[in-house]
Amino acid sequence: MKFFLDTANIEEIKRINDLGLVDGVTTNPTIIAREGRDFETVIKEICALVDGPVSAEVISLETAGMVKEAREIAKWADNIVVKIPMTEAGLAAVNILSQENIKTNVTLIFSVAQGLMAAKAGATYISPFIGRLDDIGVSGLELIEKLRQVLDIYELKAEIISASIRTLEHVEATALVGSHIATIPGNLFPKLWSHPLTDNGVAQFMKDWAEFSK
Ligand code: E4P
Repeated sequence: MKFFLDTANIEEIKRINDLGLVDGVTTNPTIIAREGRDFETVIKEICALVDGPVSAEVISLETAGMVKEAREIAKWADNIVVKIPMTEAGLAAVNILSQENIKTNVTLIFSVAQGLMAAKAGATYISPFIGRLDDIGVSGLELIEKLRQVLDIYELKAEIISASIRTLEHVEATALVGSHIATIPGNLFPKLWSHPLTDNGVAQFMKDWAEFSK
């Protein structure tokens, strides 16, 4: 499974990219607003740092506006993916953009039907939101599992980006049900490589070594 970082914070991206663990980055208007910096500048910086795909989201809600914005955003870097909301207007935009070879990530997917529609419209990536489904008592993980089955049965090319990930358990579970990608918040990522028993083990080894070398 590929790891994307779900952040626009340059320091977080640099830290994890230095470990060779960043396969791509996703952003959304909330994530960009959190940084308080110019959208285009931040996205271009991220694209220069990371080799993999970087998602930047359109703001327009109608097809013509989305397509116009997407064509502009697509010029910012070779590894740009334009994020489009899962609406009727969004599907029409994805249909047009896929014919122009502009990569898209259809976001805010909450059902199998929505994922199937987006994949058929020509999305490069589809982003089901696990955490927000769990918040309303629906299993986000089950959606990922079903979407993977549907994509495989019909040999659709779109890749699943499990989004709205809140916990380590979300990451592990999405890997087990075949999500192609998990996009992980910068503050959660370090928890993937940490374990209290590892920390205790290192501390014990250091203590024993210090005793031995006295
Ligand atoms: C990424 O593509 C999504 O926009 C993001 O994971 C949403 O996360 P949230 O539900 O925690 O806001």
